[in-house]
Amino acid sequence: MSSSRLSELLLLGQGLDLKSERGVSCDGALPEASGPDLIARAVAARAALGSRAMILGHHYQRDEVIQFADITGDSFKLAQAAEANTSAEFIFFCGVHFMAESADILTNSKQKVILPDLAAGCSMADMATAKQVDDCWQILEKLGVAATTIPITYMNSSAAIKAFTGKNEGAVCTSSNATRAMKWAFDKGEKILFLPDQHLGRNTAVLNLGLTLEDCVTWNPWKTNGGLSDTEIKSAKVILWRGHCSVHGRFNVENVEAIRAKVPGIQILVHPECQHEVVSIADVVGSTEMIIKTIENSPIGSKWAIGTELNLVQRLANRFTDREVHFLDKTVCYCSTMNRIDLPHLVWAMESLVDGRLVNQITVENETAKYARVALERMLALP
Ligand code: 13P
Ligand code: SF4
Repeated sequence: MSSSRLSELLLLGQGLDLKSERGVSCDGALPEASGPDLIARAVAARAALGSRAMILGHHYQRDEVIQFADITGDSFKLAQAAEANTSAEFIFFCGVHFMAESADILTNSKQKVILPDLAAGCSMADMATAKQVDDCWQILEKLGVAATTIPITYMNSSAAIKAFTGKNEGAVCTSSNATRAMKWAFDKGEKILFLPDQHLGRNTAVLNLGLTLEDCVTWNPWKTNGGLSDTEIKSAKVILWRGHCSVHGRFNVENVEAIRAKVPGIQILVHPECQHEVVSIADVVGSTEMIIKTIENSPIGSKWAIGTELNLVQRLANRFTDREVHFLDKTVCYCSTMNRIDLPHLVWAMESLVDGRLVNQITVENETAKYARVALERMLALP
């Protein structure tokens, strides 16, 4: 985009005549990552879009992207922000696909959600397909327990799974309200089907709701009857879907023991997507937003080992040099799909829009969106 075109748009009040290029490939048009004018191009495109655009950035995004976010947050805060802003016409979602889908569901029909790189998915969300969940539900129906089972799906799931949940009296939850969502579900029913993160489900049930590990069973979608006997399904209080996060799954008990031995007085702060053995021995557990607040409110000189995605931990370590902030694992641990969103993709998506081309729009089909919205709104209304 030429600078004269940019100034022209600025002067014209950004009157864009959009041609939608859903899912367009950005090959060839993508600015070089090392381009010396990349920041200046981002600043110019952002200015050209003005209040017609809002940029949401998840805490796992790279610094180069986060610096352009109007609002940063965990997945709950970003869902709230998407719902609250009814005026921005374009929402650039710097996060992963399921978050952009949720933003599309929660915004109005005039607003358009853009995911700067369509390859930014989430392997955990992919671990529960609509067909697999439907098959599971049919078995629960056959066993006569579906009527008293409330499905709760973690935000990290497709819109189709959220719609299934909404249709069947359930709700969405995030890592910041899973306890409230599960309590709400137990007020309505006797059993919970928790999708798709077994670790968040187990950690919440056992550590926050006082259930036992034996109250929870794990449903393996690749096995007949989920790999469970009818009696196990009937007597379980929580049926945990066998999904997990490959980033958080890496942290282990040895990491915790090693850093405790090396740094006396260190406190372990982890995300609830970590394995139960790790979360059980951690000092503090919480969502990405809560992890940030914990460090912000911690005394100067305090020592922390954080078990979550590396972009966030590095940002905290750079920001709080008067505390000791360590990464819990010894090896590098980025979320590769979150990292797909980089400044070249953001610049490409913004400049395309300035040039009148809407690229990488995320849309959820109406019927799915209707029921997924029910499940999302139940979450947003949780006490
Ligand atoms: P938060 O809801 O804590 O932001 O977590 C989202 C996520 O994908 C963590 O892996
Ligand atoms: Fe998905 Fe894990 Fe990445 Fe979060 S960190 S987006 S759960 S793969």
